[in-house]
Amino acid sequence: MNKWGKLSMGLLLAAGLLAGCGSNNDKNNTAASGDAAATNAPAAAKKLIMGTSADFPPYEFHKMVDGQDTIVGFDIEIAKEIAADLGQELEVKDLPFDSLLNELASGRIDMVISGLSPTPERAEAVGLSDIYYKAEQAVVVREADKDKFATMDSLKGAKIGIQTGSIQEDIAKGIEGAQLTSLSKISEIVLQLQSNRVDASIMEGPVAKSFVKNVKGLVITDAKPEVEDDGYVIGVKKGNTELLDQVNKTLGRLNSEGKIDEFVTAASELAESK
Ligand code: ARG
Repeated sequence: MNKWGKLSMGLLLAAGLLAGCGSNNDKNNTAASGDAAATNAPAAAKKLIMGTSADFPPYEFHKMVDGQDTIVGFDIEIAKEIAADLGQELEVKDLPFDSLLNELASGRIDMVISGLSPTPERAEAVGLSDIYYKAEQAVVVREADKDKFATMDSLKGAKIGIQTGSIQEDIAKGIEGAQLTSLSKISEIVLQLQSNRVDASIMEGPVAKSFVKNVKGLVITDAKPEVEDDGYVIGVKKGNTELLDQVNKTLGRLNSEGKIDEFVTAASELAESK
């Protein structure tokens, strides 16, 4: 047993002894057994839990790696760097996009890296990092409709599919007469487009590019949705300035080393490979 094991075992024994003065002796004795003490990892080896909605190539998506379903993407590479700088082990949790900020607020995850756009409401609810990457928005339609939906104006009254809780949902709400279908995964929106149930979707440019490359019959139109802040940030629990500072430090380092662009290129290639 290493030093930490011994120490935590000692603490548990002491706790057991103290509790032993009370009534439920048995329970506390089991808690102080060698096994429990051994699995009680020292605080320094804490896990860094990242929440993400892994439906978003090349940011975060599922891929078979060495026969194993793995969550990959450039957001994941950034998360690995943050964890390494903290000396912590990274755990990635795949969650519905619209649940991420609640999970953060309740402390079930430590950070959100999920192609998250900064908005005033989000800045109220959680801590947001510096912007680590920028991209534009795009409109995806069926090939035959490419010219029909070439401007934002032409989307008036159209059936539009968007991800629940995303800024694209807000963009679509601002389009006069548009009929919205909000779904929890981008892949579901793509299916709706293919089966004529929606006519258009708004998504981030890199995600749109990745889907139209892999899905037959879909294209990006010339329509350009406008957003106020076209960058991505990392979210931490409000008040967790320690983690936020480290996140910004790591982002600064990655930027100055040109790593983020490298990660984006590699993730885009991975998203296109079979
Ligand atoms: N950038 C958009 C937003 O913050 C969409 C992000 C969706 N992310 C995802 N991993 N599905 O609302």
